[in-house]
Amino acid sequence: MKKDYIDIQDFSAEELETLIELTGVVKRASKARALPDLLYKRSIAMIFEEPSTRTRTSFEVAMTLLGGHGLYMRPGDIHLGRREIIADTSRVLSSMCDGIVIRALHHKDILEMAKHSAVPVINAMGDMNHPAQALCDAFTMFEKVGKIKGVNLAFVGDSSKEMAAVCRDLMRISSKLGINFYLASPREYQAEEEFLKQIRMNAKLSGSKIVTTEEPREAVSQADFIYTDEWTWYDLDEDEVKKRLEAFMPKYQINSKLMKAAPAHCKFMHCLPAMRGTEVTDEVMDSEQSIVFDEAENRLYAEEALLVAFIGKGVALSAVERGRKESEYVEEIGRILKKLL
Ligand code: CP
Repeated sequence: MKKDYIDIQDFSAEELETLIELTGVVKRASKARALPDLLYKRSIAMIFEEPSTRTRTSFEVAMTLLGGHGLYMRPGDIHLGRREIIADTSRVLSSMCDGIVIRALHHKDILEMAKHSAVPVINAMGDMNHPAQALCDAFTMFEKVGKIKGVNLAFVGDSSKEMAAVCRDLMRISSKLGINFYLASPREYQAEEEFLKQIRMNAKLSGSKIVTTEEPREAVSQADFIYTDEWTWYDLDEDEVKKRLEAFMPKYQINSKLMKAAPAHCKFMHCLPAMRGTEVTDEVMDSEQSIVFDEAENRLYAEEALLVAFIGKGVALSAVERGRKESEYVEEIGRILKKLL
């Protein structure tokens, strides 16, 4: 049966740890130019209702490196939601492609696509979450400090239901994996109680500490990583942008002064794109503490892992069974994938 990658909540801590382990192996294989072509002659449809630099590039390049092909489709290129209902588009795409990657304006459309698809669907961001980014970020933290459990992550910025897909998935993955999460948001852009309840339930199982505050300095005081995201988005109207900037600026900006309130080893993360001079200063973005470009590069390896795990798992496992020796990584990938069965 096909399995989708849509919501971090659908996965156990063990499954998420396995995806992180797989990301590490495909990264090593990619760096050695020895990534096996586990998706040879496979195709995925890549629907993007919104612009994307990292997500689009990483999925498309990952497909090429795995021996397959990614078809980039914007709403104007296909009939999605206008001349054809999502269910029909989904049935047609899944009859020709081996997977569907979708960035949609509304989470319900991602669910609708998955419901009618015969092939795995991977969420490339909607209004509720960004699980591909979350996997990359958890891997990036693991790579930098060599552990996951007990890491202290401070998020300073928006955690509200309307616009904080990245923050909220970071909270989901952190609370599942035992990462301590310190959240600083202005009161009017704070995550709602119902969501926090779910996060606290995850945390109870993993042992994560979840702290919410309105004070950025308090949130970062023990941080191994400080993370922020944009406060505004390109399609917001002028009044909303003004209102948001008044709520966040200057208190929630990540600048050198705030970085100094954190331990000296603390690293700065951002999913990008960043509005330099708004939620983060140039000085921090370009500092030694900033790992934003390592993080962006890791999107490629996280997407490779997702494609192998959700679309190429059968191919990879049969390659292992056949004892395919063209890449030393086939067996290692197969061993990890067996844990996801
Ligand atoms: N972080 C992220 O999803 O970037 P893009 O919008 O460029 O894909």
